[in-house]
Parts: sequence; structure tokens; C-alpha cells
Amino acid sequence: MTSARPGNGHRLRHFLTTDDLSGRAMIEILDTAESFISVGEREIKKVPLLRGKTIVNLFFEASTRTRTTFEIAGKRLSADIININTSVSATQKGESLLDTVRNLEAMHTDLFVIRHPASGAADLVARSVPSHVHVVNAGDGRHAHPTQGLLDMFTIRRYKGDFRRLTVAIVGDVLHSRVARSQIHALTALGAKEVRVVAPRSLLPAAVETLGVTAYTDMAQGLKDADVIIMLRLQFERMSGALIPSAREYFDLYGLTRERLTLAHPDAIVMHPGPMNRGLEIASEVADGPQSVILPQVTNGIAVRMAILARLAGASALESKTP
Ligand code: CP
Repeated sequence: MTSARPGNGHRLRHFLTTDDLSGRAMIEILDTAESFISVGEREIKKVPLLRGKTIVNLFFEASTRTRTTFEIAGKRLSADIININTSVSATQKGESLLDTVRNLEAMHTDLFVIRHPASGAADLVARSVPSHVHVVNAGDGRHAHPTQGLLDMFTIRRYKGDFRRLTVAIVGDVLHSRVARSQIHALTALGAKEVRVVAPRSLLPAAVETLGVTAYTDMAQGLKDADVIIMLRLQFERMSGALIPSAREYFDLYGLTRERLTLAHPDAIVMHPGPMNRGLEIASEVADGPQSVILPQVTNGIAVRMAILARLAGASALESKTP
């Protein structure tokens, strides 16, 4: 239900998944984000594109990066941002998601940013809101995390340029990762030369190759000559039963160490959407090393989220002004 304006004549109304965004639509968002990078480098980090708009951050799951960068993005666009603490909201008294949304909508909310443990939650809300209200999926269950996917594409483009020359290895718990799903759709739409997933079979979705990726269970083969390595967290909270023998064995076989990194292209970048578990999927010396772009990913998230908010809620202003 992501309706993309660029390339097909429709305005972007909601932002729920990368699946139905064309490569061209993504490039337009990345270009808009590029124009917002400079806003964060000014002394007064604000533009008036969303002045008078109200954005509600509605997070039913823990978040550090996504919630905070959406808040900063909205504030830099001059919107009023409300963070709902769901642990002390009326959802604790049994109020349904849609009733919570309807009540917040009655307060003239223009845009909801929603994170929820259930796949499809943001889509459900998007189907229920009136036509002037926008919904952004900030992560729903195992399904999608489209703004993370796009900020990762933005980061890759900044460091590596043309996607068509790139081999990208996504390593770790692909099975439970909404981030991996969004990245795979984005990378294939943007024409990446090769997208690999690297994990034990128990952490790969069935028939993962149908997504357009090459699957590797051997870490050395999966990393060979890669230009971009994206490490994923083991998502124990979504696992039913043990899918790896032990943390130590997992790190021995699939942890990204300095030695293993030498198998990739010498200029390869190392990414991680966070939160990161040092010593489990990635060694500290790699996470903090010269090839890591993990913290720039976080910074870039602000500009990309500004671009998405502006395209949804401030499209007419965006067309007539440059920041
Ligand atoms: N990458 C990501 O979604 O991080 P948070 O859970 O901290 O938002």
C-alpha cells in the first residue's frame, strides 16, 4: 500500500514497504534526502516545510535509532512531534490499536509513525485513516522496515556509488529480519549486481532465492569479494526454540572478525542497522574499525526520514521550495 508519486503519477500517501517502490522512486527519495543533509550541518538545523503539521510517533516496541531520528527529522522540518509512550498509554488498559489511532486522529494528527511487533500493523492503520492522514511503517514484526532499508541504500550510494557494480552480502538472522526484507527489495529494484544472504540454513527463509538473492551457508564464500557487508543481529525475541547451537559457535562460524573481513573487497564497507551485539555477530575491532559506516548510517537516517516525511506530508511545499 505504498503509493509512490515519482515515476507513476501518484503522490506518496503512505510509506509501508519498499516492495512496490520502483528503483526510480527510490532514487528520487535518496536525492531529496541528499538535499536535506546540509540542514543538519547548519547552525540552525530547521526548515519550515512541515510547519503546522502534527506527527505522532507511536512505538509499541523498543527503539533507539528509529524513534529518535524520526523525532529529529520531524523537528528539523518544523513539525510538532508527539511521542506516545505505549507503556503508560491506554493500550495498557485494553484499548485496541485502531481505537488508539482514532483517538489520536481526533486530535488532528497529520501523520503517524508506527512500530509494532505484529506484521501488517502499519498497513491496518493505513487502511483505517482518512485520506488526509499519512502512515509510515517504522518496523512491523518480521515484515518490513522500509525507512531503514532506504537509509541503508542512501549510505551505500554515498560510499560506493552505482548499485549496478556492487556485490552486497547480508549476513546473519535473515529469517527474522524485517530489515533484510526491505534491503533485499531495495537492492534488487536498484539493480545491484549481486545480493547474497549468508547464514546457517536455520536462519534463512525457505526458498529465499525466489527473492532474487544467492544463498550461502559458508561465511568465507559469502564474503568473497563483497563490496558491502551488512551484518544482522540474532533476533532471539522472535525465535521459537534454539536455532543456533550456542552464541560462541555462532560467532566462530558467522561472526565478522578482522580476519574474515579481508576476504571481502579491500574497500568494502561494513554496515549494521543496530542494535549491535558485539562478540556475537560482529567483533568490536570491526564495528569500530576504518571500514565501518555503522554510525554514519544513523546520521543518514535523519535526512532520509526527513525526505520521506516531507514527501508524504509536505509534498506541495517540497515541490516549490528547496531547503
Ligand atoms: N535499526 C533500528 O530499527 O534500530 P532501533 O530498533 O533502535 O530503532
